[in-house]
Amino acid sequence: MNFSLTEEHLAIQRMARDFTRNELLPGVIERDEKQVFPESLTRRMGELGFMGMMVSPEYGGGGMDTVSYVLAMEEISKVDASASVIMSVNNSLVCWGIETFGTEEQKRKYLPRLASGEIIGAFCLSEPEAGSDATSQRTTAEDRGDHYLLNGTKNWITNGQRAGIYLVMAQTDREKGHRGINCLIVEKGMPGFEVGKKEDKLGIRGSDTTTLLFNDVKVPKENRIGDDGFGFKFAMKTLDGGRIGIASQALGIAAGAYELALKYSTERKAFGKTISNHQAVAFKLAKMATEVQAARLLCLKAARDKDLHLNYSLSGSMAKLYASKIAVDVAREAIQIHGGYGYVKEYHVERLYRDAKITEIYEGTSEIQRIVISRAVAV
Ligand code: CAA
Repeated sequence: MNFSLTEEHLAIQRMARDFTRNELLPGVIERDEKQVFPESLTRRMGELGFMGMMVSPEYGGGGMDTVSYVLAMEEISKVDASASVIMSVNNSLVCWGIETFGTEEQKRKYLPRLASGEIIGAFCLSEPEAGSDATSQRTTAEDRGDHYLLNGTKNWITNGQRAGIYLVMAQTDREKGHRGINCLIVEKGMPGFEVGKKEDKLGIRGSDTTTLLFNDVKVPKENRIGDDGFGFKFAMKTLDGGRIGIASQALGIAAGAYELALKYSTERKAFGKTISNHQAVAFKLAKMATEVQAARLLCLKAARDKDLHLNYSLSGSMAKLYASKIAVDVAREAIQIHGGYGYVKEYHVERLYRDAKITEIYEGTSEIQRIVISRAVAV
């Protein structure tokens, strides 16, 4: 088994690290505090190739593998988990979903714009009454011959305000249950489509999370992804990859918090020596380093499974379950090591702690990951 990264992987990691330190870090505290969406930085991520990393060059993407994507997500999430969730939804859910299941026309129309960062995408499954229980969609897409008439509400939608296109899951035939759900591409500006309330969140405050309202929106039939009734499976298959992105986000938050705690503890002195030389802190650092490394290996394993076209539903869910748990734990310990300094914004770890919590909630809560994992292992 080869655990080394290729020269290409290392170059992508370096590029992501440089971008993060030089361009994302300045201003990250203010963006978090004032809930400022990183508009120009998102376009810059597009220029650097981070918005459509795995999209084929034929459609304007980077043609990279999932391992590269995990490496870039880790670096970007170390500093700005708001930027990385924007990137993750665009790459894993929207670009991958369209490239894998879309028609040639859909790919040509949307992928170059998504991959360049000209527009970003949103993935819309969650509803006020259908979060984890995704088969219970209340949003309807009534078949009207050459178009669908879309009605309903989506919530907790990442990129809700800023997206140019939205992949919306909706029920066409309730009697068919999950086989009656379709995924439609809705464009911003379609009559009857409105962006609703923007959430004021605990963490990832630079990203916009909104409600979306659909009131008799006419969506042309050619905007459906896949065959009639494929929408639920489309969502499940797409979320399998989305979970690798979110696991890498959690990994990056943990790694960022760990690195800050390590730096602080080797500089700060107490009782005549650096606090890293006190066993109470040294043991914390040892545990944090081990957890970060274990999460990294799980993320890379899931990415590798995907690149090798193996089943990655199980490995992706395991990576997400573990990385999100340790992200919260490591960020909390990083605050503890910083003492009072950890509790203030200037030292970054309090933001990472707040950002970490969402990774246990979105793209399927930790409980959902346990369902997916237990169904796969206990057969
Ligand atoms: N790949 C392919 N097919 C899958 C699948 C997968 N990973 N998971 C399920 N399916 C298929 C099943 O094979 C089954 O098909 P058949 O009937 O043809 O055999 C069908 O889908 C229904 O499967 P289940 O009976 O297992 O479905 P379930 O209702 O028991 O749900 C679940 C399973 C894992 C709990 C699922 O509902 C789930 O993942 N829920 C969480 C949803 C989620 O993550 N929501 C957040 C979305 S994020 C968002 O919307 C906002 C944003 O900004 C990103």
